[in-house]
Amino acid sequence: MESLWDNIFEEDRKRIEFLRAELNRHNHNYYVLNAPEISDRDFDMLMKELEALEAQHPEWDDPLSPTRRVGSDLGKGFQQVKHIHPMLSLGNTYSIEEVGDFVRRTTTALSGETFEVVGEMKFDGTSISLIYENGRLVRAVTRGDGEKGDVVTENVMTIKSIPLVLTGDNIPQSFEIRGEIVLPWDEFDRINKEREYNEESLFANPRNAAAGTLKLQNPAEVARRGLDAYLYYIIGDNLPCDNHYDNLMEARKWGFKISDATTLMRSLDEIDEYIKYWDVQRKQLPVATDGLVFKVNSLRQQLNLGFTAKSPRWAIAYKFPAERGLTRLLSVSFEIGRTGVITPVANLEPVQLSGTVVRRASLHNEDVIRSLDIHDGDMVYVEKGGEIIPKITGVDTSARAANAVPLTFVTNCPSCGTQLVRVEGEAAWVCPNKFECEPQMIGRIEHFVGRRMMNIDGIGGETAQLMFDSGLVRNIADLYDLTHEQVAVLDRFANRSAERVMKGIADSKNVPFERVLFALSIQYVGETVAKKLAKYVRDIDTLMSMSVEQLTAIDDIGPRIAESIVEYFGIESNHNIIERLRAAGVQMSMPQEDESDRTDRLAGKSIVISGTFTHHSRDEYKALIEKHGGKNVGSISKKTDYVLAGENMGPAKLEKATSLGVKIIDENAFLEMISE
Ligand code: IVH
Repeated sequence: MESLWDNIFEEDRKRIEFLRAELNRHNHNYYVLNAPEISDRDFDMLMKELEALEAQHPEWDDPLSPTRRVGSDLGKGFQQVKHIHPMLSLGNTYSIEEVGDFVRRTTTALSGETFEVVGEMKFDGTSISLIYENGRLVRAVTRGDGEKGDVVTENVMTIKSIPLVLTGDNIPQSFEIRGEIVLPWDEFDRINKEREYNEESLFANPRNAAAGTLKLQNPAEVARRGLDAYLYYIIGDNLPCDNHYDNLMEARKWGFKISDATTLMRSLDEIDEYIKYWDVQRKQLPVATDGLVFKVNSLRQQLNLGFTAKSPRWAIAYKFPAERGLTRLLSVSFEIGRTGVITPVANLEPVQLSGTVVRRASLHNEDVIRSLDIHDGDMVYVEKGGEIIPKITGVDTSARAANAVPLTFVTNCPSCGTQLVRVEGEAAWVCPNKFECEPQMIGRIEHFVGRRMMNIDGIGGETAQLMFDSGLVRNIADLYDLTHEQVAVLDRFANRSAERVMKGIADSKNVPFERVLFALSIQYVGETVAKKLAKYVRDIDTLMSMSVEQLTAIDDIGPRIAESIVEYFGIESNHNIIERLRAAGVQMSMPQEDESDRTDRLAGKSIVISGTFTHHSRDEYKALIEKHGGKNVGSISKKTDYVLAGENMGPAKLEKATSLGVKIIDENAFLEMISE
């Protein structure tokens, strides 16, 4: 009998190995070569099969399995390590003449020897050092201060174009490879749109977004953000070739993404051509670049040239000129958002910039105005490089009128005159007059009726303003008191359009609670947070009764959000609005769960959840535990009955559970327990 089991297990083991290799190959085809061989669906099926097999065989666990790319959602501070070789920067040049100086300097330093140069893109992201041993990724470290950096291996593992296990020949037993982690433009735009909508601060450029993402405490969130990575520097004692270019080409064969722009060159003329070509063509690339890098190809010559304290003598960066326009600042408007945040916006004399006419530029906040030292009527430099909203990057002070006065931030709300307040630790000034400041009141109505909120057909920005001005709708609850007659007599309204609005309002009573919660305009409660909250609290009365401590106990709800919720419900008039909405029939709770499948199979059991799961999310497991009479607790103690362990359960938890003799069960065992 034993040999029969052995055979079956042997087959499973082979299948696991096969699936891991296949999935790695398909990831590489998709994320590095841009040439998928199989459909997404087929890929998912292979992945599911591997997940199932791995769940059956924890003994063949591999932390670098392609199933681990999703990232655990266990947060973690970062450990710091010293770099094996310090991470230096590059000297900058801004013209072909300066690059020529570099070539001449290098020739002299090499006693007149000729040398080849490798031209590369200078990717505008955040640099990363990857350590591989025996063909496997063992560590990923940020640049940090150049001497030591943060270990971000778990986050980096979610980047699909970074191979976790290498394939091919001539792979050195141990080596370091460096490159740039970048956030492609389309991902950058998508994330910023989402953030703008949720009134979170925008990333100024993909570089900040990439660096910020890499430092997130939650690898599952990192995985959602579509980072990519290009590698450009390999260091090790046993590299396959004696020159930079060939080593990169070898690395490409092992699975790394090496930019197609990487080119071997032999003369200054070729370098000149390369610069001219990429200065234009870079705009077609899916990722941000801020220049080119030129490196001496031969490793022997590199060694000869050595390093200064700050940078290698064998490489130089060439920075692209920024697309910049010079124009006059006509005025500054201070705009008021629905949550009261004041945004300064510069009105400019129209100027042509990379194909579009720019009339307005965001000045972000008071700190930005201060650091630019802008005066009224200044000639200002406007740039569009990397940013979605054009921004003012400097002032031509020589063109400033003698009597020009520095620009000041408003101290009072430009609409209602209330004195502004600045939230501690934030750069934004806020108008605290939430209930009488018109742009805020109208902003909340506009938000409430929006498509992703209550989706009230027939009311847009203009109508909201019209209804507000006519005195019919001063807050969101007033919408539900509207009559057909009142709407039909509004400017530009007729019977038919009034009917549409009335139907839209009636239909909005079926909008699920999670969207109602989002529609209320509670500061920091965006779409995702609202969904989370709704699922957890189930109804508005529970939410209204919760303290900051209780709220922060919910996954992903931090103190800032919790405080904002408590503040919102602490205001009498908000209660009033909620009661009126409720009376009108707006959904104030999640639909009742099917009570019939409640059991007491887990009665009296306390269960800790750890790791990530395949069949259900952590929140769903939490709900399942409660549904079957058990209690979900946060940390392991003597009183814990079970640890429901997913993938990537933290080693500290594992050790604690083992030492206290707490039973560890996987999700299949758990599901069996509750379905018995
Ligand atoms: S080589 C010792 N190559 O630019 C030389 N750097 O200003 C190490 N960068 O910190 C750097 N693209 O983050 C190199 N093709 C490229 C690059 C590149 C972007 C970044 C890198 C580095 C910074 C130096």
